[in-house]
Amino acid sequence: MGRKAGLDEIDARGKRVFLRVDFNVPLREDRRIRDDARMRAALPTIRELVADRAAVIVATHLGRPKGQVLPALSTRPLAEHLGLLLGAEVTWVPDCVGPEVEDAATTLRPGQVMMLENLRFHPEEEANHPAFARSLARLANLYVNDAFGTAHRAHASTEGIAHYLPAYAGRLMARELAQLGGILDNPTRPLVAIMGGSKLSTKLGVINHLLPRLDDLCLGGAMAATFLRAQGLSVGKSLVEDEFVAQAAEILSRASRGPAKVELPSDVVVAPSPDAAADQVRQCPVGDIGSQEMILDVGPATVNGWARLVATAGTVVWNGPLGVYENPLFAGGTRELAQAIAASSAVSVTGGGDLQAAIDGMGLTSGFTHVSTGGGATLEFLEGRELPGVAVLMDAAGGE
Ligand code: 3PG
Repeated sequence: MGRKAGLDEIDARGKRVFLRVDFNVPLREDRRIRDDARMRAALPTIRELVADRAAVIVATHLGRPKGQVLPALSTRPLAEHLGLLLGAEVTWVPDCVGPEVEDAATTLRPGQVMMLENLRFHPEEEANHPAFARSLARLANLYVNDAFGTAHRAHASTEGIAHYLPAYAGRLMARELAQLGGILDNPTRPLVAIMGGSKLSTKLGVINHLLPRLDDLCLGGAMAATFLRAQGLSVGKSLVEDEFVAQAAEILSRASRGPAKVELPSDVVVAPSPDAAADQVRQCPVGDIGSQEMILDVGPATVNGWARLVATAGTVVWNGPLGVYENPLFAGGTRELAQAIAASSAVSVTGGGDLQAAIDGMGLTSGFTHVSTGGGATLEFLEGRELPGVAVLMDAAGGE
């Protein structure tokens, strides 16, 4: 994929810019923002447009209101928080289309920032309705998409609008595409992938696409149980996706003939349930899991071995936690691997909401080359699929 036109190609001075961001941040029960990493990741683009004297109209979805106006999912608190992050006033309008919003957009001065209400309060957003996309486009002269996390959705604000305005990639979008693209196109070797998380079904596409490119593939998280079962091991009460055992076996058999070496856990941390008491938790070899136990983390021998691979890797791509990291009893594998990656000199790229939050919570984000803001978008990109929100952006002149 060639490079997309970005902020270097824009003359934004005096223009109104419709900036699509992905501020779909996790909220606490009291609706306060639990993790603002996605907002901070978009600040370079906003600051640059402001410095270039553009009038910046920021738009996002928040949650899945399914076309209903849900006050709990209003973007108003996001506008306030963005103002704090920027150290500047961010005005907010209670809709994203219509005469009031158009008035506010036309009176916005160069260097000012305004935020629209939740795009998904209108069903036409997810339906990618052309008239709605045109209404959004009427607010501005240029379109910048920094919402990598939503680029796998063909919605009015991520795809439709680009048919009506010159469409550019923001700095975050460009960085995501360069870092994730580098893994697929031209990685520094050895290339090591670590895949975790609970469901193999959601990772199959990525594993299949990456496998021929990899030197090593480490499989952890609850989904490792499906692979261990495919090898004929008893995994007790572990979460096994029975319908995917055959595909897991097929991956292992394909890997045995290909260049990538597949590493399954050799030891694990088990307990009767994820909320078991500390005295019910034990470490054991994978051949010794009791019938009433389930795998809740990888064991120390496993993580030590994977840490050694990481130490000599050229590139590490990691998706999905290795255990139920929210519980400190089962966070050891994820924490120790994150520390090993942060200490290594490998190019390290990770992503997926859970893992990003875990790494941020450990204070290790700065030890990674790139922590992707995408969840589903990152997976679809690594599956080799074209993201509609990327496809529609203009190509940079010369293609490179
Ligand atoms: C995400 O959080 O992955 C993106 O914001 C997309 O959200 P969605 O899955 O509700 O489309």
